[in-house]
Amino acid sequence: MPEIRPATRQDVDRLLAVAGSSARRAHLESRWVEQERGDAAFLLAYDGSGIVGQASLLRTSKYAEVVAAHDPAEINGLHAFVQGAGVGSALIAAAEDLARSWQRDAIGLAVELDNSGATRLYVRLGYRPASLRVIDEWTEVDADGIVLVAHADPCDYLLKSLAP
Ligand SMILES: CC(C)(COP(=O)(O)OP(=O)(O)OC[C@H]1O[C@@H](n2cnc3c(N)ncnc32)[C@H](O)[C@@H]1OP(=O)(O)O)[C@@H](O)C(=O)NCCC(=O)NCCS
Repeated sequence: MPEIRPATRQDVDRLLAVAGSSARRAHLESRWVEQERGDAAFLLAYDGSGIVGQASLLRTSKYAEVVAAHDPAEINGLHAFVQGAGVGSALIAAAEDLARSWQRDAIGLAVELDNSGATRLYVRLGYRPASLRVIDEWTEVDADGIVLVAHADPCDYLLKSLAP
């Protein structure tokens, strides 16, 4: 079972050293800045071999319609570098524990409509459709902040109650 903890600057530097693109480097820096501002926790998964996954837990949803309807803490950017080995499940469990420690009563995430493997995992872990479709707008930027690619991905929004 991987260990999950918030990224340190040293961890981010380690990830930057192996980042394959300027967009990946900019992504890592922005995750670090979000955490430093207190807007999110940038959670990393570690096993004996090093860092094997990442996810951010946002204090406020990216989506105005979700904030208006439910105001959950939100998992964003979940990625298991090694898949099918429990990394995603461990990151989700840690995000839920952290959201509870923030006194939040719900946690949510957006999943792309065609990501059936991820959706199956979330449903197994207790996430349910919130009857909300959202558009995940995100950009890949270079080291100077110039937008290289702009994405607008239609997603289902899933919610899980954290109430005891
Ligand atoms: C989706 C993801 C985070 C799941 O993490 P994981 O560490 O592979 O998942 P776990 O090992 O904890 O659990 C396995 C479950 O994940 C799901 N899964 C999704 N994609 C998978 C993949 N490529 N390989 C294996 N399992 C996958 C399956 O439901 C699987 O359950 P199953 O055994 O019933 O099929 C991971 O596969 C991933 O990073 N995918 C690419 C990025 C992505 O899609 N992120 C989600 C954005 S919403």
